[in-house]
Amino acid sequence: MKSLSTLLALSAALTPAIAQRVLPVSFARSTQRQSGTTTQKRATFSQELNNNLTGGGYYAQVSVGTPPQAVELILDTGSSDVWILDNNANLCSSDKLQYYYGYCLSTYNPDDSSTYEIVSDDSFSISYVDGSGAEGDYIKDTLSIGGANITSLQMGLAENTTINSGLLGVGFAANVASSKPYDNIMDLFVDQDLIPSQSYSLYLDDLRAETGTILFGGLDTKKFIGKLKTVDIQADEDTGDYTSFAVELSSMYTTADNGTIKNYTSTSIPVILDSGTTLTYLPTSIANRIFDAFGAYDDSSYTGLVYIDCGYLTNNPDLTFDFQFGGTSGPIIKVPVDEMVLDNVKGYQEIGLDVPSDLPFDDVCSFGIQSNSGYYLLGDTFLRSAYVVYDLTNKKIGLAQSNLNATETDIVEITKESGIPDVTGVASQVAYTETATSNPTVTVTGTGSADDSGNAGTRSVPAANWEAVTVAGLASVFSLVGASLFML
Ligand SMILES: *[C@@H]1O[C@H](CO)[C@@H](O)[C@H](O)[C@H]1NC(C)=O
Ligand SMILES: *[C@@H]1O[C@H](CO)[C@@H](O)[C@H](O)[C@H]1NC(C)=O
Ligand SMILES: *[C@@H]1O[C@H](CO)[C@@H](O)[C@H](O)[C@H]1NC(C)=O
Ligand SMILES: *[C@@H]1O[C@H](CO)[C@@H](O)[C@H](O)[C@H]1NC(C)=O
Ligand SMILES: *[C@@H]1O[C@H](CO)[C@@H](O)[C@H](O)[C@H]1NC(C)=O
Ligand SMILES: *[C@@H]1O[C@H](CO)[C@@H](O)[C@H](O)[C@H]1NC(C)=O
Repeated sequence: MKSLSTLLALSAALTPAIAQRVLPVSFARSTQRQSGTTTQKRATFSQELNNNLTGGGYYAQVSVGTPPQAVELILDTGSSDVWILDNNANLCSSDKLQYYYGYCLSTYNPDDSSTYEIVSDDSFSISYVDGSGAEGDYIKDTLSIGGANITSLQMGLAENTTINSGLLGVGFAANVASSKPYDNIMDLFVDQDLIPSQSYSLYLDDLRAETGTILFGGLDTKKFIGKLKTVDIQADEDTGDYTSFAVELSSMYTTADNGTIKNYTSTSIPVILDSGTTLTYLPTSIANRIFDAFGAYDDSSYTGLVYIDCGYLTNNPDLTFDFQFGGTSGPIIKVPVDEMVLDNVKGYQEIGLDVPSDLPFDDVCSFGIQSNSGYYLLGDTFLRSAYVVYDLTNKKIGLAQSNLNATETDIVEITKESGIPDVTGVASQVAYTETATSNPTVTVTGTGSADDSGNAGTRSVPAANWEAVTVAGLASVFSLVGASLFML
C-alpha cells in the first residue's frame, strides 16, 4: 500500500487531460439561509446541492460578484480551490470542445462585477487525478453561498478548461493548487465570522433524491440514524500536514440477505472521503475479490465501467456493502445494494454504448465500486449512505448512517470548543411514501453515437494542449460514459 503522498503527487503533477462530461443544463434553485428553530442556531448556512446523476456530481447554485452572477459549481471535498468559468473560457466558445467535454454551465464576467479584483494573471492551474483541469488567473470577488456572503474570496478564473463547470473545493487550505498559499473558502467562512469553526456536514441523500445539502457550521440530527461517531483525519505521512479527508477504513464486508457476512479486507487501509468522485475506488486486490464474488465484469479500461447483473437489485434487496472506520468500535456505514448497483447502462446503450458481447448476464447494470492502485477514494456511491461531518479545525470526521429522504431538521452548531458534538440522530430510517412524480430511472442525455471502440482507458491528451484538434482522436464512447465519471 502506498502512502497518501502518492495521491498528492498525482494531484500536483500536470497529468494528461482526459475526457469528461456531458451536456449539463443550468438548473436554477434558490439558496436559502437555514433558519434554525432558535436564535442560538444562527451561525449555520445550508446550501442545497443538485444531484445530477447524468452530470456525475452534486452541483451548488451559488453567486459571484456584485451584482450577483449565478454560477453552478461541483461540490468537491477532495480539493481546496473555488474556481469559476470565465465567460471567455476556451471551452465555452468552442462547439467542438463542448461536444466532447460537455456544454459550459453558467459563466462569470469579471467586467460586470464592481467587487472583482485581480490577484495574479495566469497563476491559476489545477489538475485532478482523472486528468481533467483548468488554468487561468487568480481573482478575488464576493461569493454568496447558502445565504452567506463571503467577501474578497480568492478564486481561480478558468480561461482554459476541460471541465464544463466551476468547482467548489472545500478541503484544507494546505491543499490549494497555488504554490503561494492563500486563505481559502473555509478560512474565510471563519475569518469573516460567518461560522464559528471550519466545519460542515454533507448529506447527499438517496441516489434517487433530487437534492442533497451541505450545511456549513453545523449538523442536522434529523438527517442520520443512531449515534454520530468520530474518527481522526489522517495527516499526510511525509509532511505531517492535513491535506485530504483521509480516514482509516478498518474493515469492508458484505452482509447477504440471509445475514451471511463475507469479509474483503485483511488489514486497514487509508481512504479519502471525496464528494467530487462519482464512484468508490478500492485497492485492486479487494475490488477483484468483490468482482469475483458478484460475477462483475471489469471493463473499466474500455468503456469506463464495471458491469454487474441488475438481478442483484431484485433478488437480493437486503444485501449491503458495509464499511467500518477507525477500529472495531468505530462507525459502520451500510451501503444498500440499490445504491451500489446502478441501473444506468440502458440509458448509455440508447445513445450508442456497446457493452461487451461476452457478458454472462442480460440485464446489465454498472457497479459503484472500481479498483485503483495507490490511493483509494470513497466517492458518491458510498457517501450517499452516510451523513458525514467534516471538522477541519479539530481534524475529525463524524460518521453515521444517513436517514434517507428525511424532511425534518434540527440543527446543532459546531464550535471550535465543542468540535463534533456527541449527538444521536433519529432511531430508524424514516418511512418513504412513494409519490407519483418519483422516477428512479437514470436517464442519459447525449448527442451522436459511439461508433469508435477505441480504448477509453488509455485516452489521453497532453495537458498543455487544450486545442480542439486533440479531441477528434479520442474514443467517442468516453464522451458518453466517461462524461458521468468524475475523480476530482
Ligand atoms: C443534469 O444534467 C443533464 C445533462 O446536461 C441535464 O439535461 C439535466 O437537466 C440535469 N438535471 C438536473 C436535475 O439538474
Ligand atoms: C448578501 O449580498 C446580497 C447582495 O449581493 C444582499 O442582498 C444580501 O442581503 C446579503 N446577505 C447578507 C446575509 O448579508
Ligand atoms: C489557453 O489556450 C490557448 C489556445 O486555446 C493558448 O494560446 C493559451 O496559451 C492557453 N493558456 C494557458 C494559460 O495555457
Ligand atoms: C427515497 O426517495 C426516492 C424517491 O426520490 C425513492 O426512490 C427511494 O426509495 C427512497 N429511499 C428510501 C430509503 O426510502
Ligand atoms: C447465504 O447467502 C449467500 C450469498 O447468497 C450464500 O453464499 C450462502 O450459502 C447462504 N447461506 C445460507 C446459510 O443460506
Ligand atoms: C474483517 O477483517 C478485518 C481484518 O482482519 C477485521 O479487522 C474485521 O473485524 C473483519 N470484519 C468482520 C465483519 O469480520
